[in-house]
Amino acid sequence: MEGMAVSPSTLVTYATLYGSTREVAESIATTLRENGLEVDIEPMRGVQSLDKYDAVVMGAPLYISKLYKDTQRFLEQHQGALVQRPVAVFALGPLGTDEQEMVGSRGQLDEELKKYPWLKPVAREVFIGKYDPAKLNLLHKLLALLPASPLHGRTASDHRDWDAIRAWAGGLPAKLQSKTD
Ligand SMILES: Cc1cc2nc3c(=O)[nH]c(=O)nc-3n(C[C@H](O)[C@H](O)[C@H](O)COP(=O)(O)O)c2cc1C
Repeated sequence: MEGMAVSPSTLVTYATLYGSTREVAESIATTLRENGLEVDIEPMRGVQSLDKYDAVVMGAPLYISKLYKDTQRFLEQHQGALVQRPVAVFALGPLGTDEQEMVGSRGQLDEELKKYPWLKPVAREVFIGKYDPAKLNLLHKLLALLPASPLHGRTASDHRDWDAIRAWAGGLPAKLQSKTD
C-alpha cells in the first residue's frame, strides 16, 4: 500500500471450535513478534488472500483423527499461495500428558498432511489441548457418551504446555525465512 513500509510479514491463522487453538495461536504470534517478525493473526475462515504475507503459520485442533474442517477449506482455497511460501503447521490434540497419546495424535497429523502432498511444512508440531465436557456441543456430548469413545468418562483438563509452545515458536523465525529470500 502507498506510503507503507514493505517488510516481511507472517500470518498466524487458526481453526478452532472451543477456543483453545486460538489461545495457542495468540501465544505463538506474541513470540514471533518478540523475535522481530511482523505478525497478523486471523481465523482461517476470515482469510481472503495471502498476497501480503511472506510466511504462514497454521494451527488446528484434531477432531476424530482429522484436522478441524476449516483447515481443509483453507488448504484447498489457498493452495496456490501456500506452495510459494514457507508454512509451519501445528495441531492440538492429546488431552493427557501420556506419551502414547501424543504419539497417536502425531500420527493423525501426519496422516492428515499426507492428503496435501504439495504442502511441505518447514515445521510441524502437536501440542496438548484442552477439554471441558461441560462446554461440548450436542454432537460431541453424544460422542462422549459412547462407551467406545476415547472421551468417555474423561474429566475437564488443560495441560497445554506453554513452555513447549513458546519454544517451538521461538525456533520458527529461522525456519520461516528458508524460502523467502
Ligand atoms: C469430540 C472430540 C473429539 C476429539 N478427537 C481428537 C482426536 O481424534 N485426536 C486428538 O488428538 N484430539 C482430539 N480431541 C481433542 C481436541 O483436539 C482438543 O480438545 C483441542 O484442544 C480442541 O481445540 P479447540 O478448543 O481449538 O476447538 C477431540 C476433542 C473432542 C471434543
